[in-house]
Amino acid sequence: MALDLDPASWHPNPISGRRVVLRRHRLEQFPAVLRWYRDAEVARLTRFQVGPVSDDEVRHFFQARLLAADAFAYAIHLADNDRLIGTTTLSALDPENGSVLFHITVGEHDCWGHGYGTEATELMVGHALDTLGLHRVGLSVFEFNTRAIRSYEKVGFRVEGRTREAVWRDGSFWDEIHMGLLASEWHQRHLHVDRAAARYGER
Ligand SMILES: CC(C)(COP(=O)(O)OP(=O)(O)OC[C@H]1O[C@@H](n2cnc3c(N)ncnc32)[C@H](O)[C@@H]1OP(=O)(O)O)[C@@H](O)C(=O)NCCC(=O)NCCS
Repeated sequence: MALDLDPASWHPNPISGRRVVLRRHRLEQFPAVLRWYRDAEVARLTRFQVGPVSDDEVRHFFQARLLAADAFAYAIHLADNDRLIGTTTLSALDPENGSVLFHITVGEHDCWGHGYGTEATELMVGHALDTLGLHRVGLSVFEFNTRAIRSYEKVGFRVEGRTREAVWRDGSFWDEIHMGLLASEWHQRHLHVDRAAARYGER
């Protein structure tokens, strides 16, 4: 499969939702990203290695994966007041096979459990499958991260497999769960949602 797309459309800016807005990262956001990266609970939920990281390592990650012109990365802002709350990226873009991997970190703890991350995930999946025209979005998540798994299921991701006992955390081994969402499932789901919205709107 080839991506038949004008590169100018690869990075629409912003991507607006109801409660969150995705914008390209800016240089002055580095301190916030550094703080999230160093946050022990964020590390516990998202990384295999939870040891200390240097400023330089995070700066390299920030510049190469979030700020670079060709990075599929967006800062997550609240729509109400533009507060910066996290970051979300697509990686391992494989145009030939139409697939990409999804990642998200809402870094601000007080913004967990309010649906912001779930809406940002929907916007990024819509970008990958509707705008970029890809065929599938994959992700991986630790078994104990039940909020993330529930959030991904709400967007339409399905469990495809697991790497058993891949991560040692809090005194136990846990599986790394692999989830995926196909374009056909996404479009089917949104057709239903649109029809339901139309029906509801007619009343
Ligand atoms: C994972 C994340 C993206 C989810 O986004 P979110 O907006 O916080 O999620 P939601 O508020 O939509 O909650 C998702 C579901 O989890 C449930 N949930 C909320 N807090 C929970 C908790 N502490 N434990 C278990 N489930 C929880 C919610 O009730 C909701 O399910 P429901 O709608 O059926 O009730 C976000 O919390 C986050 O970035 N967390 C920190 C980093 C992280 O874990 N990243 C993912 C790595 S794979």
